[in-house]
Amino acid sequence: MGRATVADIKGRDFSELDKEAKANTENTNKGSNTNKNRNTTTSDSRGRKNRRRQKKTMVVHPVQRLFDACKDVFAHAGTGFVPPPDKIEQLSALLDEIRPVDVGLSPRMPFFSPQATRRAPTITYLHIHECEKFSMGIFCLPPSGVLPLHNHPGMTVFSKLLFGTMHIKSYDWVVGAPSASAVAEPSQTAQRSEVRMAKVKVDSNLTAPCKTSILYPADGGNMHCFTAVTACTVLDVLGPPYSDLEGRHCTYYLAYPFTKFSGDEQVSIPDEEKDKYAWLQERDKPEDLVVEGALYTGPVIREN
Ligand SMILES: [Fe+2]
Repeated sequence: MGRATVADIKGRDFSELDKEAKANTENTNKGSNTNKNRNTTTSDSRGRKNRRRQKKTMVVHPVQRLFDACKDVFAHAGTGFVPPPDKIEQLSALLDEIRPVDVGLSPRMPFFSPQATRRAPTITYLHIHECEKFSMGIFCLPPSGVLPLHNHPGMTVFSKLLFGTMHIKSYDWVVGAPSASAVAEPSQTAQRSEVRMAKVKVDSNLTAPCKTSILYPADGGNMHCFTAVTACTVLDVLGPPYSDLEGRHCTYYLAYPFTKFSGDEQVSIPDEEKDKYAWLQERDKPEDLVVEGALYTGPVIREN
């Protein structure tokens, strides 16, 4: 409903601009020699039509280009889908070109303001598109906002930091590593639950402008945590998207240092490498995580 309203408003604006441009041209033609005017009007009219046609073919918005490419790249996406290298390059290149203004965002918008609260800062999600094959959306984080450690099962995810500085810590499962049994922290559940060994993939700050980050079903940092060092915003493309029906649900994790459980296990990791490993334990969705939806006010995506 809200999206349709925005589309309608934008449509009206464009046609009003068009009428205004037309009226200006007609006024310019008035008062000229009649014969000359007739010829000039005919050729001007053809010129205008050509220019309009040219404009129509030339002006495809970056987000529309990204959407069109996603439709093609993820046309057959299912759990575990990884696009071929040329398609990954294509989507990355399209995302690399997108600026905040292209999605209707500016760091001065209210959801990027520091929040004077004792709770974790509220994060805003702007939904752009979701279908069975892929989803597009934007996370807006105020300073110190945290998207806690979570996974993307069987998915390929493109994340483009549009502005600001964000700390990324990501992990991949260590294939074939033993699991361990852990007693959860008192603040969590009181049950014993399994922890799995994971390897740190990324642990660094990212500052825009920067290249698009990509994670895959089994590598690239499939489990990740984003922390806003400054106010920042990330455009995410998920292919395929989360789907409880198809077993792709979002799981949250606690990360424990490798040394916390390694004593019980037959895992041999050199001391100097131990900080590159961790044990991850499933947890409930953090209670202090608040993600509020807001209306995407960037260019309207045309689906056909
Ligand atoms: Fe994520």
